[in-house]
Amino acid sequence: MIEILPSILASDFTRLAEEIARVEAGGARMLHLDVMDGHFVPNLTIGPPVVESIRKITKLTLDVHLMITDPDKYAPIFIEAGADCVSVHQEVCPHLDRTLRMIQAEGGRAGVVLNPSTPVGTLEEVLGIVDHVLLMSVNPGFGGQSFLPHVLDKARRLKQMRENLGLRFNIEMDGGITRDNVGTVVRSGVNWIVAGSSIFHAPDAAAAVADMKQAAESSLALLA
Ligand code: DX5
Ligand code: ZN
Repeated sequence: MIEILPSILASDFTRLAEEIARVEAGGARMLHLDVMDGHFVPNLTIGPPVVESIRKITKLTLDVHLMITDPDKYAPIFIEAGADCVSVHQEVCPHLDRTLRMIQAEGGRAGVVLNPSTPVGTLEEVLGIVDHVLLMSVNPGFGGQSFLPHVLDKARRLKQMRENLGLRFNIEMDGGITRDNVGTVVRSGVNWIVAGSSIFHAPDAAAAVADMKQAAESSLALLA
């Protein structure tokens, strides 16, 4: 099932509730929330109080992307604040198996994120327990960057690994995705599509979500 996940990083924070209502009207069922700590990535964004506020005004599934060096400490706090899905970077989790199981025990859906330079092979031993894998298609830290096409090959290989193992986790991609490249993204095996600038900087965010979903679905239909 294809899902478009608008990333609020590109939204107008002074009108966050209206922005969320717009993407919901466009058919989004999930929302992507980028948490940055100024250590793992050179930028700072939102923390648990903002997630808690968003939780109060929407029923959308909240997908929290932790770009922080200590996800073990903070993941439970984000779940408590209302996160449904929590994704942690492989690069900062020496005990990834334990971290993912902890997120699930706290009631969250657990995902692993890979930077563009981290091979999908590093996930072999945890694929059996993940709910989703997020492949970064830009180096994390900022919205509005250009898509790195080599990540498409990582998605194809991950999809193949999932097939070989008979598993069902979702494959998510984040960074530089637009209406123009979303077709190649879904054809590579991705079914959760994160998009910030191409949705919130569009003249009509609701139409941008609907358009992107339609573009993704029709390019998949061509494959069938
Ligand atoms: C980047 C974030 C992304 C970002 C995507 O570090 O993880 O979620 O908001 O923004 P766009 O779609 O503008 O590349
Ligand atoms: Zn993100």
